[in-house]
Amino acid sequence: MEALNSIFLLGLCLLFASSAMSTLADPKAHHHEFVIQATPVKRLCKTHNTITVNGQFPGPTLEVNNGDTLVVKVTNKARYNVTIHWHGIRQMRTGWADGPEFVTQCPIRPGGSYTYRFTIQGQEGTLWWHAHSSWLRATVYGALIIHPKQGDSYPFTKPNRQATLLLGEWWDGNPIDVVRRATRTGAAPNVSNAYTINGQPGDLYSCSSKGTVIVPIDSGETNLLRVINAALNQPLFFSVANHKLTVVSADASYTKPFTTKVLMLGPGQTTDVLITGDQPPSRYYLAASAYFSAQNAAFDNTTTTAILEYKSIRCNTTSCKKGKTVIKPTMPKLPAFNDTNTASAFTKSFRSPRKVEVPTEIDENLFFTIGLGLNKCPKHFRSRRCQGPNGTRFTASMNNVSFVLPNNMSILQAYQQNIPGVYTSDFPANPPRKFDYTGNVSRSLWQPSSGTKGYKLKYGSRVQVVLQDTSIVTPEDHPIHLHGYDFYILAEGFGNFNPKTDTKMFNLVDPPLRNTVAVPANGWAVIRFVADNPGAWMMHCHLDVHINWGLAMVFLVDNGVGELQSIEPPPADYPLCS
Ligand code: C2O
Repeated sequence: MEALNSIFLLGLCLLFASSAMSTLADPKAHHHEFVIQATPVKRLCKTHNTITVNGQFPGPTLEVNNGDTLVVKVTNKARYNVTIHWHGIRQMRTGWADGPEFVTQCPIRPGGSYTYRFTIQGQEGTLWWHAHSSWLRATVYGALIIHPKQGDSYPFTKPNRQATLLLGEWWDGNPIDVVRRATRTGAAPNVSNAYTINGQPGDLYSCSSKGTVIVPIDSGETNLLRVINAALNQPLFFSVANHKLTVVSADASYTKPFTTKVLMLGPGQTTDVLITGDQPPSRYYLAASAYFSAQNAAFDNTTTTAILEYKSIRCNTTSCKKGKTVIKPTMPKLPAFNDTNTASAFTKSFRSPRKVEVPTEIDENLFFTIGLGLNKCPKHFRSRRCQGPNGTRFTASMNNVSFVLPNNMSILQAYQQNIPGVYTSDFPANPPRKFDYTGNVSRSLWQPSSGTKGYKLKYGSRVQVVLQDTSIVTPEDHPIHLHGYDFYILAEGFGNFNPKTDTKMFNLVDPPLRNTVAVPANGWAVIRFVADNPGAWMMHCHLDVHINWGLAMVFLVDNGVGELQSIEPPPADYPLCS
């Protein structure tokens, strides 16, 4: 009996030891099912049939460790085509799983499914996922959190708690109808009716107080807030009443910590901050409102809030009382909607934590203008289809090319299988005409050409892109996102980029590494990356309305030498167009 017992115990110990070891060492594969479906969601006093993942809004948070593999089976039970993009995931050699519709795959049709499979390599921090088809990402999005490898730690004090704050944008209507109407009329789409934090507008909107998100904190704690701008079309300021924020990471790359009262995030960007419970125990609003840099245009000027609540005041969900008085949260002071100085001071504060290896020699020196335009009303169009300024239709372009998605095959498939007629590879390395980009631009330059144009990059080439905003129609802060890569932001400034003087300002020591850069309104930004990931990678403005208008292009990166420098074969269930 004794002996039997001890053998049993020994066995148990071995079992525990081996499972403990495997959680410590082995990367895991995480399997998830995403069912895209219409679900009733009530906001601003009205219920809409909202497209969601698994009936959740926002969708599920995915949590992995650096080195793990994600396997997500997406089944489309909605009446729209859909794809899912894993925003900021590098997708090394797995470009088939990147997601942008007609760029790396054809859409998953209603009734269809596709399994996205990819490994997270060398990335840590906060990213997110979202639909990449029409305007579905207005409601189809969620957080993707990458923890350090098991046993590794953060490069800052371990936070007591963590909270994820997804900033979003809500239409009191069907967002797909909003974009379809805009496409029909040529006018700008209706602006949103609310901003949201984790899907909730918060106390400043009608019928919304009940759902206001509570973020707990305790006196003396230091907590991590992962802020994600998942709004469709709006850069946002974010601030917390009476509390300072210490930025430690952005777009899943660590930063040299710096302290600020206010964040500015373009759509697509993420910012992780530490917050310390060093104020009198009470309730404080976390709030977000628009940073709007365009001129003579409408925008949603409302403010979304959540509540930072000190544990020690012990609250329940419906009321929050200290003694007998309900504590009304303190409101932070947010910058004015057009406070470009605050936005720019913030974005210029980012540094990598230490000296980094920025490519110093450049193989591809590219200069891309980015901006809006107006198309004359085509002859066969009725006037109701030309409701842009003075009977025009809105458009947008990079280097005067307004990007048009193919509809019969993905660019990646056409590129890999050498199928002609889907795209051309003549995207210009420079603007076809030089002009005073941020000055008073002649009307003759307001109408771009259109096309499905890519720019070819040799494997391993070192690429610099100057992104230059234009003042055509209006200058505007454009959040430019590159798929498949992180890039260093070497410098940014206002006016026209001047290689003679501005090159001297390049930070070649510790520039920040990001996947989305907020190019200043009427200004420029310079980015560098090494083309070490073969595939077809979209670069576009992350204001969705600008993608509709054509503010996008595609980099075509060829395979290097051998298997490890080549894209994997497409998965068996890769969705085709027909
Ligand atoms: Cu987050 Cu192409 O997008």
